[in-house]
Amino acid sequence: MFADEINNTHLSLLGFGNMGQAIVKGLLRKNIFLPSQIFVFDPAEDKQQDAKDMGVQVVTHIENLLNTSHILLVAVKPQMIQSALQPLTSIIGKDVLIISIAAGISIHYYKNLLGQSDLRIVRTMPNTPALVGEGITAITFSEECSEQDKILAQQIFQSVGKTVLVSEEQIDIVTAVSGSGPAYFFYLCECMIDAGKSLGLSEETALSLVRQTFYGAASLLISGDDLPEVLRARVTSKGGTTEAAIRTMELKNFKSIVIEAIHSAYQRAQELGK
Ligand SMILES: NC(=O)c1ccc[n+]([C@@H]2O[C@H](COP(=O)([O-])OP(=O)(O)OC[C@H]3O[C@@H](n4cnc5c(N)ncnc54)[C@H](OP(=O)(O)O)[C@@H]3O)[C@@H](O)[C@H]2O)c1
Repeated sequence: MFADEINNTHLSLLGFGNMGQAIVKGLLRKNIFLPSQIFVFDPAEDKQQDAKDMGVQVVTHIENLLNTSHILLVAVKPQMIQSALQPLTSIIGKDVLIISIAAGISIHYYKNLLGQSDLRIVRTMPNTPALVGEGITAITFSEECSEQDKILAQQIFQSVGKTVLVSEEQIDIVTAVSGSGPAYFFYLCECMIDAGKSLGLSEETALSLVRQTFYGAASLLISGDDLPEVLRARVTSKGGTTEAAIRTMELKNFKSIVIEAIHSAYQRAQELGK
């Protein structure tokens, strides 16, 4: 988006939890918005304090959230969307660009809830590495969005990492793969730490080994074009230790467990949208 237009744009957030705060931090860090351009409504007092600490504006009456803003970032839990948007239904129109990060909530759901079929809606799925500017956000648009809306939405999420454009049908899949993905990774970390401890390492040593191993392995994966299976093959010597571990994982159907787990996340994302 052009600098002049961004300078005149205000961004309002409905909900200022983990993801809302991560996005605002990114926007401020990258100077995409000034603190004076950002407005937050969240009933939780600690979140209001977080907003004040960041220098952004706290709105105490939700009806005032869109007084001067034309972008509404919906960052409440999916189960809260209906009640949280209720007070805004008579205020929201197609002059407001609605950007949603809620898992499972479709563009159709928003249009239905707000009783308008021509709303400009950006549906996204970020993930928590956004907290350190290393997220990946999948983005899809309602057909009413302009080219400028599309550029602006991408710019917002590029402030906290990378973006990919997908069709709306694919967003629930993205939710299951990368939205929930960091938790799978942390779970694998937990398993490896437990394994190290069960063999005699201290928790501290096991944690250091796992943290740096994942950081290093992720760096290898993103620094070149080699696919994960190629990188894995390079660690796996014939008759060696890695081969013994991978053989056990295969015998215990590790791959099907992970695939089944991600399918469960996909189904849950679909249920949340109903
Ligand atoms: N966390 C993730 O990994 C992740 C990844 C991708 C997408 N998302 C999506 O991001 C959204 C937010 O997730 P999160 O992890 O940031 O949740 P969160 O930390 O719980 O933040 C949501 C915030 O909204 C507040 N809230 C509750 N009712 C509200 C209302 N009526 N109006 C305004 N604010 C209200 C909550 O306050 P209370 O705490 O007092 O209820 C909380 O501070 C969800 O829809 C989720 O699907 C999350």
